[in-house]
Formats: sequence, C-alpha cells, structure tokens
Amino acid sequence: MRLDTKYLDTFISRSELRMIEEEAKEAHLSLENGTCPSADFLGWLHLPSSTKDAELKRIERIAKEIRKTSSVFIVIGIGGSYLGSRAALEFLSPGYAEDGPCKIYFAGNSIDPLYLSNLINKIKDKDITVNVISKSGTTIEPATAFRIIRDKVLKKRYSSQELKKRIIFTTTKGKGALSNMAKRGGYRCFYIPEDVGGRFSVLTPVGLLPMAVAGIDIKAVIKGAASIEAKSKTPSLETNLSYRYACLRNLLYRNGKKIEIACSFHTDLHYLLEWWKQLFAESEGKDGKGLFPATAIFSTDLHANGQLIQQGERNIFETFLCIKKKEADLKLGHDKDNIDKLNYISGKGLDLINKMAYKGTVLAHKDGNVPNMSITIDERSAFCLGELIYFFQRAVALSGLLLGINPFDQPGVQAYKDNMFRLLGRK
Ligand code: PA5
Repeated sequence: MRLDTKYLDTFISRSELRMIEEEAKEAHLSLENGTCPSADFLGWLHLPSSTKDAELKRIERIAKEIRKTSSVFIVIGIGGSYLGSRAALEFLSPGYAEDGPCKIYFAGNSIDPLYLSNLINKIKDKDITVNVISKSGTTIEPATAFRIIRDKVLKKRYSSQELKKRIIFTTTKGKGALSNMAKRGGYRCFYIPEDVGGRFSVLTPVGLLPMAVAGIDIKAVIKGAASIEAKSKTPSLETNLSYRYACLRNLLYRNGKKIEIACSFHTDLHYLLEWWKQLFAESEGKDGKGLFPATAIFSTDLHANGQLIQQGERNIFETFLCIKKKEADLKLGHDKDNIDKLNYISGKGLDLINKMAYKGTVLAHKDGNVPNMSITIDERSAFCLGELIYFFQRAVALSGLLLGINPFDQPGVQAYKDNMFRLLGRK
C-alpha cells in the first residue's frame, strides 16, 4: 500500500505535522492501553491477528453448504451490518456471483417497499438461504425485511425443520431478538464479539460469511488486515501510513477543509467508498465536530460535482483510492474518416486514458486549491481488501481521538428512530 501526499505539501507544513505526531502518540497509547473513551469497544483493534483458523473454517464450511443448497443467498442488514460485505462483493465479486451457483442479494438496508417486493418476486421460485445480521438484534430495517421475507417466502416454501438450515443469524450471543428467535426456532448463529462495534465488524462473520458465500478468500482478507495491524504497532508517521492519513486529514480540517471526498476512478470501488463514508461519518460526527465524508466515482462525477470541486467554496479536500495493477483494457482502433477526431489516441487503451484522467484531475484540483492525497493498493485482491479495511478502521479511530470525540459510539442515530417509533405508536 502507498500513501502519496505530494499534493499536500503547499497546504500542510512540516512543523504542523511534527506537532500532530505528538498528539497521535498519545492517542495511540490510549488505544493500545485501553484508556480511550468506550474502551470496551476495542475488540476490532487486534481482531485480524487473533482470528482463529477454526472460526474461518466454520464460516467456509457453512458458505460451501449454502452454495450447494441455495441458488439465492439474501443478506439482511443495515449500516455496519451491511456495507462492509457489500463493498467486498462489489469489489471482488462484481455481479455478486451472478454467474455462479448462488446469487447474492441484499435486503433490510432500507424500508422501501418497492425494493423488497421486487426482490421477493425475483426469488420466489428459487432455493433460498437468508442471513440476518444485526448486532443489537432490534434494528427496524432488517427486522421488518426478515419478517416479511420469512412470512411471504420462507414459511410458504419450507418446513420448520428445513428452515433451521435456511435461516442463519449473525448477532450478539445471548442478547436481543435474533438470539431469542434462534433459540426458539433452532436456527444457526454466528456471533459478533460484544466489544466490536457495528461499523468495525466487517472482519467478523458479519462480513466474512457473505464474502465466503461469494467465493472470496476470507483467509487472505484477514491476512491483509493483519499486515496493516502489524504496521500499526508504532505511532511513527513515517511507517504507519494509516496514522499519517489520519493526521493529515485532521490538519486539513483544522485549516478549514471541512469536507473530505473519497473518490476513485474505479467504478466498483463505489461501495467501498460507501463503507468508508459510514465508518467515518458515524465515528466522527459528534459534539459539533467532524469532517463531512462524501464520496465520488470519477470520471462520472466530474460531470456532476466536478465544477463545484474545482471552483466552489474552498472547504474540500480529496482522498483518491487507486489500484496499481493494470486490469482489463480496451484499445481504441484507428478510423480512416476520423469524424469523432479520436485518432490522436488510437492504439491507446482505456486503462491509460483513465490514468491520464486521474493525473489531470489531481493536478487541476490541487491548482484549484483542493488538496488531495492518493492511497494505492497493489491489486484487486482479497489481501488488498483486508489491508484497506484495517487501514481505514485504524485511521478513523486515531482521527476521532485527535478530534477529541469518542469514535466508538453513535448516540445521534437514535433521534430519528425515537420519532419514527412514536409516530408508529410503539408502546
Ligand atoms: O456502526 C454501527 O454501529 C451502526 O451502523 C450499526 O451497524 C447499524 O445501525 C446496524 O445495527 P445492528 O447491527 O444492531 O442492526
């Protein structure tokens, strides 16, 4: 992994960086010693290095069984119980195993009735396994989706004996409605460690079971994450790139850059950016503070928000996500008439044109006073996905502590729920 910060040089001074490195050292110690706020939510910190082989094997065994018995696998969850696995699947299994034996769908990440009824229509004649993921076991979006799918599809198709194989819960052991339902219905469960918060849970069965069903090498994901965990032992900004990123974004914020756009020229990184957005927004937006995390896929969005980024209010910086290894390519042919005037790039591939679009963009935005940095992974692989996941988890923890907030709680999420429950007449 590489972090390229050359376009920040004119925006951040060495002395600012030296100063924040001291703050980072303290924050690092509070994470490692468990003296930071919500220290009982630090289970994710050493999760990659402590994940047991037996746990991964159980996930792989059940994933194999699901692929054998089901042509459809529905993952029901929202927020941290959803975005990580969707990000992984978009990135490494585009089409969600569409051509494979078991197609994967997501549900319970909204309350839109049209989405769910379309999904129900699509799957009604298929062999289905459902994985309901909810740490609390009480979140309304997945709970309603599950009840509807269970009553309208599963119970109509399968005996209660068969349902024991086709309903799998991922939740907190011994707590919440899912745990109670599992006991009563005899459903199988995967457990989310109590000390791992929702948005930090992608490297638990929350993310790993859907990934394994999609055929992603989950051992490699964990290995990639563990490699960044190992590099995170030191707070040195020279070697700890995730801390370096966290410090730089904090300095930019202190200098008035309140909005961070995480962007990429790779379209199937879209959900990884969405996962990043949730991780950072829910962790940092507290006590009247927090960088606003936005996402963009370029060059698509250069034709949407490109104008604003180039010339709008100068409160933005960008973090680009790049992949080093060349992937698919399509060459432009020569056309003797050249009516489209593209012969100047005939013989060149879209990969090169995309790279030039990236270079042109970072330069234009820097010149337009939008600082930017780039994170580059080697290739589209399970290992590199693991690297990215842990890189950002570690970064957001440090970044939140540098901001002076508690990165591990989310008290503000309750407000809309309270109103909705009152409006729905919950007693
Ligand atoms: O990060 C978080 O804690 C949240 O985004 C949760 O993951 C989300 O609200 C879903 O919660 P639960 O898993 O309890 O259904």
